[in-house]
Order: sequence, then structure tokens, then C-alpha cells
Amino acid sequence: MALKKKIQELKKKRELVQMGGGEKAIEKQIALGKLTARERILKLLDENSFQEYDLFVEHEARDFDMHKKILHGDGVIIGTGSVYGKSVCIFAQDFTVAGGSLGLMHSRKIIKIMDHALKMRVPLIGINDSGGARIQEGVNSLAGYGEIFFRNTLSSGVIPQISVILGPCAGGAVYSPALTDFVFVVNNISKMFITGPEVIKTVLGEEISMEDLGGARVHSEITGNAHFYAESENECFEQIKKLMTFIPWSNRDKPIKQESRLPLPEYDIENIVPDDPRQPYDIRDVVRSVADGSEFFEVQESWAKNMVIGFARMNGETCGFICNQPLVLAGVLDVDSSDKASRFIRYCDAFNIPIITLVDLPGYLPGVDQEHAGVIRHGAKMLYAYSEATIPKMTVILRKAYGGGYIAMGSRHLRADFVFAWPTAEIAVMGPEGAANIIFRKEIMNAENPEKMRKEKVEEYKQKFANPYVAAARGYIDSVIEPSETRNILLHAIEVAKQKSVSLPVKKHGVPPF
Ligand code: HXC
Repeated sequence: MALKKKIQELKKKRELVQMGGGEKAIEKQIALGKLTARERILKLLDENSFQEYDLFVEHEARDFDMHKKILHGDGVIIGTGSVYGKSVCIFAQDFTVAGGSLGLMHSRKIIKIMDHALKMRVPLIGINDSGGARIQEGVNSLAGYGEIFFRNTLSSGVIPQISVILGPCAGGAVYSPALTDFVFVVNNISKMFITGPEVIKTVLGEEISMEDLGGARVHSEITGNAHFYAESENECFEQIKKLMTFIPWSNRDKPIKQESRLPLPEYDIENIVPDDPRQPYDIRDVVRSVADGSEFFEVQESWAKNMVIGFARMNGETCGFICNQPLVLAGVLDVDSSDKASRFIRYCDAFNIPIITLVDLPGYLPGVDQEHAGVIRHGAKMLYAYSEATIPKMTVILRKAYGGGYIAMGSRHLRADFVFAWPTAEIAVMGPEGAANIIFRKEIMNAENPEKMRKEKVEEYKQKFANPYVAAARGYIDSVIEPSETRNILLHAIEVAKQKSVSLPVKKHGVPPF
């Protein structure tokens, strides 16, 4: 009987704490179109799989009347559960409790689940909805963030870390998501910024809305901080689950193997790339024409669109695709696209996901803006990432591969394992027009008919270099292939490279051009 009573007591306690900040605060949360922290966890995880810890944690803050405040769960829910029947660790900040602000005990809860995730080698999913450091707890809050950042860094490349921004994510709070692998945002709900509109108004005298400062679109299209954008929380959870079909649970695991499927017949690989090298096309159609079921899961779809990155499957196994996008700026490399590709290469390498690079670019974007924005430093990241990556690397040159772009896009010289080129490939130091103007300048200038001479010289250069055979003659590419052979040749290459084993010189770590 005593036990029954105690169980009743426990149930009541649980119910009370699970109400978070209480009915009014929950109503406010719902009115903003948001789910509660608990609903979010339950929606994301497999049914009945969630096991909560530290429900009864209490804060010990005393200043600013904090001793009078009961903060249920200290504003964060932590626990374990499963997705696709496989274990994950998760935390969700509860905005209904002191605005989800991060005090000492709140941070200790997050730290506990982060440590579990790393020890157990399972993914960590963090749902962020918080006013940032709990102001009343001073340096203890800052210490909490520091401990979280440290763990984000230790876990990087060992377990997947997924951040979901479902409310404000203010001040230093943004840096934990920024250290994780994938950041998900939702329109009208997600807000990320270092200094909020109030501070900007005080310091700079400028008025800006939270949405324009750091809303979901800003981070998906302008800053590149977000990797996935959704219109609703439900769509966001579907995206997370989809991502989790492609990635391994740790750097010692493989992604869940799927059935091999043929690409759909509507993606006819011979009819995607136009004959005229100046005509654009959507490189994603080429990915779809070689990938299982023509399924391509794009990452950072709306940012630096001249580079396309994402996951697809080849014979049931995940590959990372890195492709120039001729539809946008002719697919040039620039500051943002270099950042986008380099980080993705490092992600794939850390988690043993083979990389397939599709090349069609005229080179780096010229201009003062790019030079002053540091295109040298950012472009160097690509060289570093490809050179350092030891996973199987396959490259296909479809059309243009000019200059530094040829080298940077997974070339043989950065140790691609297999490099193929279509017969339409043009591999040269620069495009025929530019090249002819420079090397035949005198002949063109002195000719009776300079325009005619220029055309002849462009043609001469094209004949000599605008093809794949000069590179093939040196063994820089392994085979010139028909477009229709691409999928089977890639499948063969992936199979051959399965047991690939190479090592880098022994060192503590390199010094990439961060
Ligand atoms: C303590 C906080 C808080 C915070 C919000 N609250 N942020 N309490 N510390 N940082 C509390 C509010 O007092 C309020 O409590 C409740 O949460 C809900 O907040 P509201 O302001 O009513 O909500 P809303 O109008 O929706 O505005 C949300 C908000 C705003 C935009 C996030 O609260 C805000 O601007 N907060 C401060 C954001 C910020 O500048 N954070 C940076 C902190 S410094 P009651 O009791 O009234 O319900 C930082 C540095 C860390 O993070 C560096 C680490 C390296």
C-alpha cells in the first residue's frame, strides 16, 4: 500500500514538472505556432521510445529573487530514444520555463546527454528554443555554454550532431549549433543572432526586425548557417528523419543499407547537358540520372547555389555528391561555394561516405569583391579538404574544367581515386576565347582582319585543348566514357574502392586555412 501511495506521488510530481512553465506559457507557445518541447521530442522519436532523465533537476541560483522561482526541469528536457529503431540522445529547450534560458543546471543536463551520446557513439539531436545565457546566473551560464562548445568539438567527426532551431537562439547560444554538422530551421519560428535588435538599436541606432536580422530565410539563403529549411515543424522533423536514412550513427558505423534501385527513365543522361558549352542546365538532373531511384537529398539548397552538395545512394549505399551548378553563375567557384563544398567534403570523409564530384565550371569568379572577401583563403579550403580526404573519391568531368577549378574539383592531383571524363569535356588552363586573346594577341593585332584571325586562333586552341584527350594522354583522367556508362562505371569504382586504405603523414593535426 505504501508503495502504491509513493507511486501516485511520483506520478503527480511527474505530471506537474512535465507541465513546464504552466498553462499560460504553453498557450503563448502554441499561439506562436510552436509545439512544446515535449511534443517535439515525441514527434521526432519512434513511438514510445523516449526515456527522460533529470526531470527533477532544480536550479540553485539565489540572486535577483531566483530563490523564489521554481523552474521545472530547469528549462530543458533530456533523454534517449530511437529513430528507425536505433538509439539516439536528445535534448529540447523548453521556452515556457524562463524562456528556455541556459543556467548552470540547465547546461549540466545538456552536458550529461552530450557525454552519453559520445560515450555510446549515437547521434545527438539538440532542439534549441532559448533566450540564451540566463542573465540572473551570470558567469555560471557562460561556463555552461563553454562546456557545451567543448563537447561539440570533441564529438565532431565521431557522432552526428544535429541542431534544430525552433525559436530564438540568441547570443552565444548560436555557437553550439554552428559547431554541429547540420542545422535545421523553420520559417517564422527560427531566429539566430549574436546581438539582437535591441542591442543593434542601442549601439548602432538601426531598427531591424528579428526576422530580417536572423530569420530562417536569412540563414538558409544568405549566411549559410542553416543546412535545411522547412515551412513547418512537422516538415522539419520529416527532413531530419530523411537525413538520418543517409548518415551513419557514428564514424564506426555505416548508414542503413537500402535496396538498390535504378534511376528513373525520365532522367535521360544523354539529353541533359546541352551541346553548346555556354548553355546552362541543372546539374541535379545529372545526379538524378545516376543515383538510385533518382533520389537526391540536397544540403544547403538555397545558399551558394553555384555549388550543389548532398546525399544520394549508389547501389543502396550513401554517397556524397559535390557538383558545380551551371544554372547559377555558370557554376564558378567563389568564397561561399568553396566553404560549402569544403565542409561537406570533411563531413563525408569523417563519416566514411564516398565522394562523387561532378565537374563543369569555367574557374574562379573574378572580381575585386571576391578577392577582398578572401577567395584565396576560402578557395584553399577546397584544395585542403580534397587532399586530406582519404575516403574513396570519384570525379566525372562533364564539360568545362578550366584552370584552378579543374584542380580544385576533386582532380587526380588531389588524389581522386578515379577520374572519368565525358567526350564533351574541355580541360584547359582557361576558356578558348580568353586563352586565344592572350597567347595570340600579337598575331590578332597585326592581322589584316583581326576578328577573322581571332576566330581562327580560338578554333585552333579549341582543337588543341578543348577536349579530354590531352589529359587522358597524360593519365590525369583514367577513362573517357560515354555519359550512359557513368552509373555503372561509378558503381564499379565504388566497389573496387571499398577496401581502400591510405594514411596521411603522422601529425597532431594539419593547419587548414580556416
Ligand atoms: C533570463 C530570460 C532570458 C535570458 C528570456 N527570458 N531570455 N530570462 N535570461 N537570457 C525570460 C523572460 O524574462 C521571460 O520571463 C521569459 O523568458 C519569456 O521571455 P519574453 O521576453 O517574454 O519572450 P519573447 O517576447 O518571446 O522574447 C524572446 C526573446 C527575448 C527575443 C528571446 O526574451 C530576449 O531578447 N531575451 C534575451 C536575449 C539575449 O540577448 N540573450 C543573450 C544573453 S547573453 P517571464 O518570467 O517574464 O516569463 C548570451 C551570451 C552567452 O547568451 C555567451 C556564451 C558564449
